[in-house]
Amino acid sequence: MIDSARTPEPNPLGSLDEWDDDVKRRYPEPAADGSPSAPAAKPFVATNPDKKKEEFRDYRAEARASVKEFYRLNHTYQTYDFVQQKRAEFLPRTHARMGVWEALEFLNTLVDDSDPDTDVPQIEHCLQTAEAIRRDGHPRWFILTGLIHDLGKILCLRGEPQWCVVGDTFPVGCRFSESIVFPEFFSENPDSRDSRYQTECGVYERNCGLDRVTMSWGHDEYLYHVVKDYLPEPALYMIRYHSFYPGHRERAYDHLMSEHDQKLFAAVRAFNPYDLYTKSEERPNVAALRPFYEALIAEYFPPQLAW
Ligand SMILES: [Fe+2]
Ligand SMILES: [Fe+2]
Repeated sequence: MIDSARTPEPNPLGSLDEWDDDVKRRYPEPAADGSPSAPAAKPFVATNPDKKKEEFRDYRAEARASVKEFYRLNHTYQTYDFVQQKRAEFLPRTHARMGVWEALEFLNTLVDDSDPDTDVPQIEHCLQTAEAIRRDGHPRWFILTGLIHDLGKILCLRGEPQWCVVGDTFPVGCRFSESIVFPEFFSENPDSRDSRYQTECGVYERNCGLDRVTMSWGHDEYLYHVVKDYLPEPALYMIRYHSFYPGHRERAYDHLMSEHDQKLFAAVRAFNPYDLYTKSEERPNVAALRPFYEALIAEYFPPQLAW
């Protein structure tokens, strides 16, 4: 049961970036020569099972208290039923009509307690991601995906708590993988005691494909539904599964994925470094970049979308 003596602070993170920064600490950028980077930056799960435990402890010891509390809330409250409620609330998308650039500006109004010297405004993370993809000569839809991938975070501006907007995503309705960060917090999740949800495949058929699998609720799934009629399939996979680290990094859910998912996850993995490793001191000039991106948005999207 949830410990009622500990009234949870709904938003323990000083800013949403604290989660992103923590993911980057878990999955550091490999050095240019392909060798692993600094010691604190080991992969979350090593292939050597003896090492795995040790590194897992390191990671946990170094995690900030606010980040741990954030994961505790996320893992405690993301149940199969909770996700169905959030899907019923947000997927009809009757809350607003907005263009994509307007949504970016709206997201940028998200004010948090973060340190303005170290945290990048949301619109700048979007532009830094897109600009890095553009510099590498990728197709225009890929650049656009970089620009919009986090727009689902506007859920925070509708009063949704951090733990159901950001955080690593994972399937609900089946056993929680030990590869999900801080798996011990799932002991507080009522689904852990529901036998329907605690077999390897739970309510799903083996290799049924992720489209049939209900993921924990967050900004990825929400944005996917907003844009799904307008972008090519690899872009939609990037958007829908970019926070699914237990899937695209840990490969812990191959038993639910179809062959088609496996092929498309190449796109998710190609996108991930642009999301994680493009934060830089050099701030993008939003006004100068705007005409290029407005034209790109107009190539794929109608002037307004249902949110
Ligand atoms: Fe994201
Ligand atoms: Fe992002």
